[in-house]
Amino acid sequence: MSLQSTNPTETSAWKKLAEHFANTKEEQLKDLFASDASRAEKFTLRWNDFLVDFSKNRITDETLSLLLQLAEEINLADAIQKQFGGDEINQTEGRAVLHTALRAKKSDTILVDGENVVDEVYQVKEHIKEFTESIISGSATGYTGKAFTDVVNIGIGGSDLGPAMVTEALKFYKNHLKLHFVSNVDGDHVNEVLKELDPETTLFVVVSKTFTTQETLSNATTIKKWFLKHGTQEDIAKHFAAVSTNTEAISEFGIAAENVFPMWDWVGGRFSLWSAVGLSIALAVGFENFDQLLTGANEMDEHFKEADFKDNLPVVLALLSVWYNNFYGAETEAIIPYTQYLSRFSAYLQQGIMESNGKSVDRNGNRVGYETGTIIWGEPGTNSQHAFFQLIHQGTKIIPVDFIGYKKSLHGDVDHHNKLMANFFAQTEALMNGKTASQVREELEGKGMAENEIEKLLAFKVFEGNKPTNTILIDKLSPKSLGSLIALYEHKIFVQGIIWNIFSYDQWGVELGKQLAGTILKDIQGSEIADHDGSTLQLLRYFKG
Ligand code: F6P
Repeated sequence: MSLQSTNPTETSAWKKLAEHFANTKEEQLKDLFASDASRAEKFTLRWNDFLVDFSKNRITDETLSLLLQLAEEINLADAIQKQFGGDEINQTEGRAVLHTALRAKKSDTILVDGENVVDEVYQVKEHIKEFTESIISGSATGYTGKAFTDVVNIGIGGSDLGPAMVTEALKFYKNHLKLHFVSNVDGDHVNEVLKELDPETTLFVVVSKTFTTQETLSNATTIKKWFLKHGTQEDIAKHFAAVSTNTEAISEFGIAAENVFPMWDWVGGRFSLWSAVGLSIALAVGFENFDQLLTGANEMDEHFKEADFKDNLPVVLALLSVWYNNFYGAETEAIIPYTQYLSRFSAYLQQGIMESNGKSVDRNGNRVGYETGTIIWGEPGTNSQHAFFQLIHQGTKIIPVDFIGYKKSLHGDVDHHNKLMANFFAQTEALMNGKTASQVREELEGKGMAENEIEKLLAFKVFEGNKPTNTILIDKLSPKSLGSLIALYEHKIFVQGIIWNIFSYDQWGVELGKQLAGTILKDIQGSEIADHDGSTLQLLRYFKG
């Protein structure tokens, strides 16, 4: 069954939210805290080892209850059921959306076309386990009998970002294998990686859902040519593995059948790290840790499915994001993890969030009359504090920020961790409280500054404050908690797409770029240039010299 279609702006909750926004938009967070001693507790959710404090948001009880009413009116509950139940909610591609099945329990039944897909998922998991264990243990060797030392993941988009982000995030749990990622069609990327490799001890994993992506096929072909300068065609069987739905194309490429890992149409590329697309994750940290990642995601799935919306982490975070996007007119959201391990997290979420919800046509095919997908960006703290935080503190734009931090460090150096977390807490407090003119004056007077000097400086040193943040505080960065964190954002994406009445699981905009690049490649390679606009023609002629 397809998803229901409701224009969110026509719901009664939306209309009330618009009115409520007009009445409350000037309210100060500081005052809201001063007038309600229970605010922090009230606007905090605790789940497993997660604490999510969303009290530093420009909301009141009424805001939250209207947002929850919006979720009811949109019939979010029905959409959740349809997604988990395997309905074809990716309507424009005629597919179910079941990345949640990849982390389902073995005893679960999830039917697609009458088949329980959980059985297949577990068969592939077993294959991943055997394969990765043989590589890690050294029982599988390269063509000269040496154990593998390096693994190269060849893929792009969802076939690269998830594995790359997670292997970096779980570096602490890593084994001896050195992971490399080749994604860009820019030859610099592959050539720099190849410089570091020994063909006798390197395993290549080609990951492409479609096995038609120009970047991945070009890089895989270049790598194969490089390999064949050292090994033979037969040796490819030992050194290449592939993950795809397109098993025919894989065998044409020459990869041995036992090294082929299937995936399914009902897994979107940007949600695929839980499938065999995560092979390089399992190689890097071992199958047990990979499985823990899936367990963490599954626990978040259960929470999302079962918890009341008011206690539901993905639902609450999604609703807050809608509040800023559609009522405050916030264009962007920053995601700032206070751990260097999550340095690729916002890049990963950029694909998940922006490829999913960067849509301007509703589920009836009409242009939407309201804002949809948010722009996502971010870098780890504390580095980001010394880069772009100035704009968040004193710029003209409202930028809601998610602060993600951990109670315990993995390195165990208390001094470093305390300093890191002091910054973590200080930033959300400063963003909320700001600094008033009288506080600045008092501070400068305390330093003995002359009145005329104070007057000159005052305006520049005032911070408006009232900047919204969520604080996501997790016990420890582990494979399991990481799985839950990623799944939290996945479900947030889904909830927002449902509210905005768009299809979150296609990506026609990206497909267009792929097609046009194909046409222009012919212009570059051939003697004639086809018709283009004046600018593109001029550029192509100049490029061809
Ligand atoms: O970037 C567009 C996209 O279609 C993504 O959705 C996908 O993750 C990526 O290309 C790679 O596609 P494939 O895995 O088929 O090579």
